[in-house]
Amino acid sequence: MDFLARFQQLDAWLSEHQAVWRARPFTQLQLPWEQVWPELSVFLRVRSLGQAEQNHNQPHLLDAPAPFTELAAQSLALSQVEDWSRAPPNPLPESLTRNVPGRKWQQITRFADISRQRLPQPAQHWLDWCAGKGHLGRLLAFTGGQPLSCLEYDGALNEQGRALSHQCNIEASHVDADVLSASSWQHLQPHHTPVALHACGELHMTLLRQSVARGCGQLVLSPCCYNRIETDSYQPLSAASRRAQLSLSKDDLALPLLESVTAGQRVRRLRDQSMAWRLAFDLWQREARGVDSYLPTPARPQSALNVGIADFCHSLAAHHHLELPEPADWGALEYGGWQRLAQVRNLELVGALFRRPLEIWLLLDRALFLQESGYCVQLGQFCSTSLTPRNLMLVGHK
Ligand SMILES: C[S@@+](CC[C@H](N)C(=O)[O-])C[C@H]1O[C@@H](n2cnc3c(N)ncnc32)[C@H](O)[C@@H]1O
Repeated sequence: MDFLARFQQLDAWLSEHQAVWRARPFTQLQLPWEQVWPELSVFLRVRSLGQAEQNHNQPHLLDAPAPFTELAAQSLALSQVEDWSRAPPNPLPESLTRNVPGRKWQQITRFADISRQRLPQPAQHWLDWCAGKGHLGRLLAFTGGQPLSCLEYDGALNEQGRALSHQCNIEASHVDADVLSASSWQHLQPHHTPVALHACGELHMTLLRQSVARGCGQLVLSPCCYNRIETDSYQPLSAASRRAQLSLSKDDLALPLLESVTAGQRVRRLRDQSMAWRLAFDLWQREARGVDSYLPTPARPQSALNVGIADFCHSLAAHHHLELPEPADWGALEYGGWQRLAQVRNLELVGALFRRPLEIWLLLDRALFLQESGYCVQLGQFCSTSLTPRNLMLVGHK
C-alpha cells in the first residue's frame, strides 16, 4: 500500500463528507444531510431497533437508497488493509493462559504470532508498553527466550504480573512506570522491541514519539481509544497529516470507537432502556422548556433504571436544576423515547460507514510518522473484528 496516496484519498473523502459523519443523531432531532437525501432519511426513520442492530457491525451490507450504497462502496475500498489474521499454530502451556479471559487471550496469541512473523529481526529484548499483567510480553518472551520489561503504572497489576512471570520462569522486570512521564522513557533502549496492545491515545502516541527519539530498531502496536489525548484537538504526528485538510476534535476521534462488539442479551436490553429513557427526557425537556436544544444526559448507574421512567427523568432534570411541568402521560413519553432510539440507531448507520475510514486515516498518520522517521512500516489486521473492533496493527523497523 502507498500510505501517502491512501492517506490523501481518505483525507479528501472524509473532508468532503464531514458534515455527514459529524452529525450526531442522539443529540440532534434532524440531521443536516436529511434535507439533501430525503429518500434515505425516510427509509432509515421507519426501520425498527432490531433492524438497526442487525446492520450495526456491517453497515455496508444494508441495501438503502442513494447515496448509501455508493458511500458504502467507497468506504470499503478506502478501508482495505492486509488481513494477517489466522489462528496461531502451536498450543501453549496452561501456565501462560491462566487467568486471561478467552477473547483477550485470542487477541494476544494472534498479536504475538504475527509480530514474530512480520518483524525482520528476532527481538533481543521485549518491552511491553502499558502491559497490564504483561500477558503479551510474557508469551513473546516465553516462546523466544528473550528477556522482558513491562511498563505499567498500576502497581497491583505489576505485582500479579511478577508472580506470573516467576511461575513461568521468565526473566522479566515489571516496572511501576507512568509512560507519560519523561523519567520512564529511559526504559526504552535501542535494542528493545516495544509492543503495545491496546494502549490508549496519548499512551501509544508517546510510544511512537519516544521509540523514534530513543532509536528503538523495531516496534509493534495496536492502538485504541484515539480520543484519550491530553490536548483539546488532535495533534497530528506526521508532516503529511499536518498538511491535511481534516482537523479533528476529541468528539471526532470517538467515532471509530462507536462500533461495539455484540454484547449479551441482558446487557443490550439495559443499555437500550437507559438510552430510550434519556431520549424520552430529551423530548420532555425540549417541550417543557420550549427550547429546541439538547441538554447533556449523563450516564446513570444501572440501579437508576429500577426506579421507573418518571424518577429517572426527574433526576436528569434535577441535574440541570430544572423544575419542569409533568408530561401528560409518562407511558406515551417512554414510547416516544423508544421510537427515537430506533431512529437514532438507524440514522447512525450512515455515520458508521465513516468509522473505519477515519480509523485508517489515524493509523496512516502513525505509519507516515514512522516512515518519515526512517522506518519501514506494515499495516494490517491481526484478528477478526468479532474478537475486537480494534484489530489494526502497525509493525515498524528501521
Ligand atoms: C487497555 S489496557 C491494555 C493492557 C494490555 N496491554 C492488554 O492488552 O491486556 C491499558 C493499560 O494501560 C495502563 N496505563 C494507563 N495509563 C498508563 C500510564 N500513564 N502509564 C503506564 N500504564 C498506563 C492501564 O493500567 C492498563 O493496564
